[in-house]
Amino acid sequence: MNSDNLVIAVDGPAASGKGTLSRRVAHFYGLAYLDTGSLYRGVGWLMLSKGLSPRNVEEIEVAASTLTLEQLDNADIRTPDVGRAASVVAAIPEVRQALLQYQRQYATNPPAGKRGAILDGRDIGTVVCPDASVKFFVDAAAEVRAERRWRELFQHNNSLTLDQVLDDIRRRDTRDATRTAAPMKAAQDAHLIDTSLLDIDAAFAAVRRVIDKALA
Ligand code: CDP
Repeated sequence: MNSDNLVIAVDGPAASGKGTLSRRVAHFYGLAYLDTGSLYRGVGWLMLSKGLSPRNVEEIEVAASTLTLEQLDNADIRTPDVGRAASVVAAIPEVRQALLQYQRQYATNPPAGKRGAILDGRDIGTVVCPDASVKFFVDAAAEVRAERRWRELFQHNNSLTLDQVLDDIRRRDTRDATRTAAPMKAAQDAHLIDTSLLDIDAAFAAVRRVIDKALA
């Protein structure tokens, strides 16, 4: 395989560990990293902060196609409310279309002279970068993911219960996996990494074995 313009696609459900893994891969292999969920979270945040209805597709599409990182300065996009709003706007085909070009451009022309890019999300291996050099689908049991997310969120909001977080994750998984537009699923040629029983070092070692083999 040509190691010029290496593109790595990482998909998987909420709190599966894909973000931590992707950042580590990016650092190790010198790749640019795009957390595509933050784009959908940005649109979800705009919907909430502008008081838009999810049925108002036109206004939400405008928010998606004019989204800039500056708009999200000081925006807290990591809250459960924004996660829920992100998954609602992510089911709108016009929103996905509006964000597609930016993601593809990032993958083919990574910033800062990097040798390639790693993108994580729900549809990277299936829709955004179907020709990616290497694809992963990172998963874990819902209970394990809920506990991870609850620990992260608890630092800022100690009134959230583990059950609430689990319920939220299950609803979001169902919405993401059953929507018609680019549903969350593993690409046929994705390598499955189940992090239920793996810590980050073990998961990274498993991912490295696959990438190194592809690069050899
Ligand atoms: O961090 P977490 O895994 O909780 O979620 P995220 O990656 O920030 O994504 C938030 C939401 O954006 C997801 O629940 C999806 O509905 C949506 N999303 C998507 O549809 N496609 C992507 N490529 C990335 C995120």
